[in-house]
Amino acid sequence: MTLTEAKQKLAKYGQEHVLKYYDELSDAQKEALLAQIDATDMSILASCKNREELAKKGVITPLAAMQLPEIEANKASFTATGIEAIKAGKVGAVLLAGGMGTRLGSDNPKGMYNVGITRDLYIFECLVNNMLDVVKQADAWFHLFVMTSDKNHEATVSFLKEHDYFGYKAEYIHFFMQEMAAATDYDGKIYLEEKGKLSTSPNGNGGWFVSMQKAGLLDLVKSEGIEWLNVFAVDNVCQRICDPAFVGATIQKNCVVGAKVVKKNAPDEKVGVMCLEDGRPSIVEYYELTDELMNAKDANGDPAYYFGVILNYLFRVPELIEIVENSLPLHIVEKKIPYLNEAGELVKPESPNGFKFENLVLDMIHQMSSCLPYEVVREYEFAPIKNKTGIDSVESARALLQKNGVVL
Ligand code: UTP
Repeated sequence: MTLTEAKQKLAKYGQEHVLKYYDELSDAQKEALLAQIDATDMSILASCKNREELAKKGVITPLAAMQLPEIEANKASFTATGIEAIKAGKVGAVLLAGGMGTRLGSDNPKGMYNVGITRDLYIFECLVNNMLDVVKQADAWFHLFVMTSDKNHEATVSFLKEHDYFGYKAEYIHFFMQEMAAATDYDGKIYLEEKGKLSTSPNGNGGWFVSMQKAGLLDLVKSEGIEWLNVFAVDNVCQRICDPAFVGATIQKNCVVGAKVVKKNAPDEKVGVMCLEDGRPSIVEYYELTDELMNAKDANGDPAYYFGVILNYLFRVPELIEIVENSLPLHIVEKKIPYLNEAGELVKPESPNGFKFENLVLDMIHQMSSCLPYEVVREYEFAPIKNKTGIDSVESARALLQKNGVVL
């Protein structure tokens, strides 16, 4: 893109200020900035003025989950179906590791965090150990696709390589990078993080399948005959991945997506809940849950919206391909964004100072025709690490790992 073209684009979106230091830049920096301006989707930025509109939902009704007694009664059959699919190479895993982990506050990718106490035990290592259990059980390797971002790709790849992938077979691991989005102040004006660089952040975990496709990995999925992809978050160290019983239950129930869920520990717990929205599967985020929905009861007197998602979904590939062109709703989230102040100095703010623009994987559920919410025991499977201490923290995850017999 030429400077004139860049000026035209910036004028269209009211972002001319990002050229403030242009004349001070070297030729290479100028070229990089123009390329970044060209690549940045600025059409989304004005939406920060009507955030409430974006959050509007349809009619919410309950969606029953498959609960523990039913799972227990059918465990052998579900497991056999799942193992058969894994052995046949029909199941792959996708690790969402492109996030910034800002709440944890470590400069490294979250997966590099050491949760060990008397020995080293990294988050990535916990996840690989959980996968190796299944490899052993099925006596078959399954492919693992790892999503990173521009901000953590190099560190993630070299860390895993250095540790010999914690025993996972290298030829079954594939990395791909997600897209970035511009970050703005509260008026939707893009921040600069360097004189020649727009401030960007990963664009949420919702773009994972599009990014896999852009990286050419859909060809591998097809050529390997992978029919199911188990998408999971980097920060839940206890979760089972490509869990045979979960895979088998989703297949047997003829659902195109399965979602692992836990019973909420309080009506206002900060997890998204499974539901139907206008008759299709969906997830209501905790901050969208009205008091009425929070207190609604089902026929047994249990909360009607009892089951929270843990970011562990099993998608059927043909349906993913069908929706790949569809757009996802935009989430505009307040975050702390490092920026250059008026004097051109880098500031790392202590409190939120603007917006990031994200698409979320949970919105893909609403584009699917059927979904099986599948209950798991939270004491075994839900130990997310979002913070250093307190709720959903390194501390709480360590306690749960120890409870499950993991030596720290
Ligand atoms: P979170 O929403 O908890 O974000 O991500 P985070 O980056 O880990 O932490 P904070 O909010 O900055 O403190 C849930 C999962 O989605 C992935 C994360 O890596 C995590 O596995 N994710 C999130 C991405 O892969 N890309 C994104 O752009 C955002």
